[in-house]
Amino acid sequence: MSLSTNSRTITKEAFLRTPNNTTDGMLKKAWIIDNGIRYLLKGGYKEETLQPFNEVLASEICKRLGFNHVEYTIDTYKDMVVSKCPCFINKDTELITCSQIENTMKRYDNLEDYEEYIKKLEENGIENAREKVENMYILDFLIMNEDRHLNNFGIIRDVNTLKWIDVAPLFDNGQSLNIEYYDEEEVHISGNGRLFYEVKPFDEIIKVVKNIKRIDISKLDGVVEWFDGLLHQYQHLTGYSDTRINRLCVLINAQINKLKELSLNND
Ligand SMILES: Nc1ncnc2c1ncn2[C@@H]1O[C@H](COP(=O)(O)OP(=O)(O)O)[C@@H](O)[C@H]1O
Ligand SMILES: [Mg+2]
Repeated sequence: MSLSTNSRTITKEAFLRTPNNTTDGMLKKAWIIDNGIRYLLKGGYKEETLQPFNEVLASEICKRLGFNHVEYTIDTYKDMVVSKCPCFINKDTELITCSQIENTMKRYDNLEDYEEYIKKLEENGIENAREKVENMYILDFLIMNEDRHLNNFGIIRDVNTLKWIDVAPLFDNGQSLNIEYYDEEEVHISGNGRLFYEVKPFDEIIKVVKNIKRIDISKLDGVVEWFDGLLHQYQHLTGYSDTRINRLCVLINAQINKLKELSLNND
């Protein structure tokens, strides 16, 4: 038996992959309640432990640049490094992912998907929708996030009135700074970013940002040193070599400098 609603079909058989059915995605997760507040703990994928640090780096960047984001901190769980973030919805709100919104729209497989999405947000009363979506791609550029698929962003909706409240705070930024290998001279990265249905180099995707000058990139001064300190602080748990930490920092520094350059030439 299946129940038909306006746009979706809900089958009777619920898909319960784990006892924790309120999150999807690939990473190990658990909800905890700490001092009455609900938090999501998220580990790394397989043996990779960088994701939690990337989440925290993304939060730091967003905080400095004034981007609406989910605040991730580092925590440990049974000797594992995990990220910890508060739940960003409550009993009156829900996340509607871009993927769910796009399902109701025509698919172009080009920049039109991005433009139509922004138009849809504006039509539904979300203020400064373009800037807010651009901010996400600025963050992705800075940390080289390869995982901005359509379930990793969206909007927050009021469950009672169905009003679109705002874009969802930026979340799931962990699959970033993906170094393939490094040697004495170079850091090699192979990854691309995602712009809706397209997988493209970060240097291409950042072109959607119309006015980079509205961002005060000098607010990122010192962020690389801060990240270097954070990675060293947890070295006893992660086993990262000094060289690996250095290469990660070199990579972020290079992206920040590239953004500064783009900003200078942006008119
Ligand atoms: N802080 C949070 N509050 C509420 N829901 C969340 C939160 N973080 C994640 N989720 C939900 O869980 C899903 C999976 O989490 P995500 O961080 O995207 O992990 P993964 O890297 O495994 O995709 C998200 O798509 C979202 O629906
Ligand atoms: Mg996700």
